[in-house]
Amino acid sequence: MPDIAYVNGRFLPLAEAVISIEDRGFQFGDGVYEVVRTYNNHPFQLPAHLDRLERSATALKLPVPVSRVEWGEVVAKALSQTSYPESKIYIQVTRGPAPRDHQFPADPRPTVVLTVREMRPLADTIRVNGVEAITMDDLRWGRCDIKSVNLLANVLARQRAKEAGVFEAIFVRNGRVTEGSVSNVLLVRDRQLMTAPEGPDILSGVTRSLVIDLARREGLKVMEQHPLQEDLHAASEVFLTGTTVEVLPVVRIDGKPVGSGVPGPISRVLTSRFETLTT
Ligand code: PDD
Repeated sequence: MPDIAYVNGRFLPLAEAVISIEDRGFQFGDGVYEVVRTYNNHPFQLPAHLDRLERSATALKLPVPVSRVEWGEVVAKALSQTSYPESKIYIQVTRGPAPRDHQFPADPRPTVVLTVREMRPLADTIRVNGVEAITMDDLRWGRCDIKSVNLLANVLARQRAKEAGVFEAIFVRNGRVTEGSVSNVLLVRDRQLMTAPEGPDILSGVTRSLVIDLARREGLKVMEQHPLQEDLHAASEVFLTGTTVEVLPVVRIDGKPVGSGVPGPISRVLTSRFETLTT
């Protein structure tokens, strides 16, 4: 069964899907996106992802010509045409094709794309052993809450992480930790969680808010305030959250061990509580 694409109302094999080179997503990165994964072949937290898609599009004055009900139908139909054990659903809406000119076209015809590919979860050994990260300057713009397809700083950061042989790059802006290149970052100190607050510095992660709720239900205090870079090194635990990483312990940062250098008890508890949401 091939990977499936949905382009402006039509389903077709991904390899046959094309859009115009004049598309503003291609020309300017003028578009928004979401990544949703399935558990038991059911899209996880689709309403929360659609909420964020709406918020991102509204912030860019980008009209989305698909209603929530229609998104649900398109996702269900796309999933029914594939037979992967689990799928990764990618949604992208751009301001569509127009002669290249920075200002918005007078009569935008947004491009709507959805793809379904196989979701290959991280290996259990990675999850059990935790991962390494590096810190780097956050070079992104001032609206990181908008999930736009402008991902160049994230791309460069992830590449730097790859070249350093580590999993994630953790962004630091003016000495304060914002998030990872593909994930949110939470740390534990004195049995309290700390993570950058929602706002223009971070993408408000769907997984992040679920995990914060789970932590509070465990009786843990969660402080939504920017950790300082040195807090990362003083933390007993650091972990990442995200659709693709779920809850993922970080055991070394910039070559130094986090806590005792192995995944800690709070990450482990939150990992298992998170699993109960997905089964
Ligand atoms: N990224 N922060 C950034 C910069 C991200 O790119 C992501 C997710 C997250 C986590 O958000 P959520 O829990 O809603 O997935 C935080 C997706 C998976 C991506 O770009 O592929």
